[in-house]
Amino acid sequence: MTPGRRRDRAVYTRSHPALFALLTLTRRAATVRIGRTVLVHGTDPYRDALTRLPLDRAAAGTTGGIARDVSGGEGVLFDQAGADHRGARRALADALSAPGVERLRRLGREVLERRAAALATGGRVDVVDVAVELSGTVAAELLGLDLPPRRLAGAARAAAAAAARAHLPGPLASRNRHRARAAAGELLALIGDERAAMLAVAAVNTTVAALPRAVAWCADDGLWPQAADPATAAALAGELLRVLAPSPLLPRVAAADGTLAGRPVRAGDRLILVTRHAARAHDRDPDAVAAVPAATAQLVFGAGPHACPGARLARAQLVDALAAFAPYRPVVSRARVDRRSALPGWGFLEVSACG
Ligand code: HEM
Repeated sequence: MTPGRRRDRAVYTRSHPALFALLTLTRRAATVRIGRTVLVHGTDPYRDALTRLPLDRAAAGTTGGIARDVSGGEGVLFDQAGADHRGARRALADALSAPGVERLRRLGREVLERRAAALATGGRVDVVDVAVELSGTVAAELLGLDLPPRRLAGAARAAAAAAARAHLPGPLASRNRHRARAAAGELLALIGDERAAMLAVAAVNTTVAALPRAVAWCADDGLWPQAADPATAAALAGELLRVLAPSPLLPRVAAADGTLAGRPVRAGDRLILVTRHAARAHDRDPDAVAAVPAATAQLVFGAGPHACPGARLARAQLVDALAAFAPYRPVVSRARVDRRSALPGWGFLEVSACG
């Protein structure tokens, strides 16, 4: 196992050790049924579940159900279907089109280059804090909000973390639900619109999870030359997103009977779609020269009508972040896993320039 992969595993093993062990033990089978829950590990059944099987998009405990809790409303893309959903996607299309992303990218580069420059004078940089500032800046611009970036990102992170905890069973469930409602209320009060609140949550939490993990992997496995080279930078970013699988599990509920990998699925079954395994994140290291097929790598952004509309922005931001850090060849000096965040990631990842 490479040093990059070894360090990165800690974001799972220190936050959800039992779940990580269960998924690792069962991953050789394309699907595994445990009562009314089906674990979906295989690449094809993962894609089939998102594109062929009717899903109950608003069921409790699914991404759609959680998105409603986080944003304090309904009609927030993840939970929608049919014409309403298509209309909501069209409303986003311009902002996240190629020219829209280029506009957002300019703002993002300013943040990244300014923050990475501290490495030139021997300073240390917390890459999680950089990702917070970057994601808050870009989300504010995307949503047309005049808000301090850290305030926006902080509220989006708090709402997502509280919502994720509220869906865990246990003695603190009722307290956690109360806290989740309060955090969602704060986010909504700040942003003023449910769909915008959900977009901020989607954009901020994925960026804050993915970017520091990618920087750590480059630092540990000596990938900075590939990040600095325009000929390999985009392929490297795509491969890193694949192995990081920032949303490693997609919880869904089947809305009708069907089959996955030849096994029956019944309406109401809970599906745990394991993005990490579908995208071969667990057994194929990132390789900018011999990348896995794009159709497989793309699965980290989902598939079908709900596939992530922010994928182009996410890829561009990662290319820019790695290019900003690459000249300093940083190494990781200190890191701590965030055990409470909605997505696996670092709570703190400090880097300093090499040598
Ligand atoms: C590394 C970054 C990101 C990853 C890994 C990621 C991953 C995903 C995944 C797995 C889904 C669910 C797809 C499905 O159900 O098939 C999704 C949906 C979504 N993402 Fe992302 N995402 C990222 C960044 C972003 C960004 C930057 C934005 C906004 C600017 C964004 C906005 C959304 C929205 C609005 C949806 C819901 C789409 C729908 O239900 O129609 N994401 N994302």
